[in-house]
Amino acid sequence: MAAVAIRGLGKDAAGQEGLIPILHNVSLDVADGELLVLVGPSGCGKSTLLRCVAGLESIERGEVQLDGRRINELAPGARDVAMVFQSYALYPHLTVRENLAFPLRLRKEPESEIAARVAEALELTGISALVDRRPSQLSGGQRQRVAIGRALVRRPRLFLFDEPLSNLDASLRARMRVELKRLHARLRATMIYVTHDQVEAMTLADRIAVMRSGQVEQVGTPRELYDRPANLFVARFLGTPEINLVPAEALGVVGATTLGLRPEDIYFEDRGPLAGTVELVEELGRTSIVHLLVGDQRIVALVESPQAPQPGVVASFRWDPERLHRFDQHEQRIA
Ligand SMILES: Nc1ncnc2c1ncn2[C@@H]1O[C@H](COP(=O)(O)OP(=O)(O)OP(=O)(O)O)[C@@H](O)[C@H]1O
Ligand SMILES: [Mg+2]
Repeated sequence: MAAVAIRGLGKDAAGQEGLIPILHNVSLDVADGELLVLVGPSGCGKSTLLRCVAGLESIERGEVQLDGRRINELAPGARDVAMVFQSYALYPHLTVRENLAFPLRLRKEPESEIAARVAEALELTGISALVDRRPSQLSGGQRQRVAIGRALVRRPRLFLFDEPLSNLDASLRARMRVELKRLHARLRATMIYVTHDQVEAMTLADRIAVMRSGQVEQVGTPRELYDRPANLFVARFLGTPEINLVPAEALGVVGATTLGLRPEDIYFEDRGPLAGTVELVEELGRTSIVHLLVGDQRIVALVESPQAPQPGVVASFRWDPERLHRFDQHEQRIA
């Protein structure tokens, strides 16, 4: 496996009015054996970044290194990097076994080696029973496993995943997420994983990189990003329900412009410092989401269901001052 270093990467695309930058000065390190998740809104440059690492896009500025060696000029096939896409891109006329063997046959590996690696990939992805089927005879989740298996047989130095689960339904997605995490733990492979899904990001990642408009906004463990978001954008991006962002004066706090308060850090109790009208309660089972109107400010709280006030009442609440996030007029975190 390999460590990845991305240094000052820049990439432009041709637009109607000349070149538009789509990656600006991106620098990022992925440690050997680490699973780094890239998240960010649609169009922020996640796929472009992966494609630059894979060699599917030329690099205009900066450098990509694998284990300290510059790979900018290496052809994709020479990089020893495997990419798994959202669309599975399997060969429809080949069986599962032949789909898995294909990249090895291309490299003219000996038959005994091919058989051993295919068997290993089948076992790792749990599709041994499906070897003789063609892709049209598989479910979406099974196809995605074949696509992952086809990356595994190559034993690449680096795996790149571009939203591999986004075509699956919610329950299968959740199961595949766990399996991928298990696979990563077992292989200790270096992986860069792109997703839109913040739950997927939080649960899979060793570290998350949050991107916006071609730039990396913050990199850290899921916990670090959740507990200490560097700016309003990152604060908003992680967490469901979304963090409450309120003008500092609404909570009587000086020295900050905007305050962030996570819904689960709000507690209903008599004689709390603020009160709001309960507009709506969403019962989720063990927990409930309470929508409050405090003056003209909407605030959302997440509480254990027995603690949720009734719709229509005026409920007073408190929050943990230690868990209050403070941001300045430039939307940056204060301390
Ligand atoms: N070949 C191209 N020519 C022109 N613009 C491009 C090209 N490829 C990508 N772009 C633009 O670059 C930006 C980044 O695209 P990219 O596909 O990397 O985003 P993304 O973060 O992967 O988005 P999504 O989450 O929707 O997959 C977008 O604004 C896109 O329109
Ligand atoms: Mg993309």
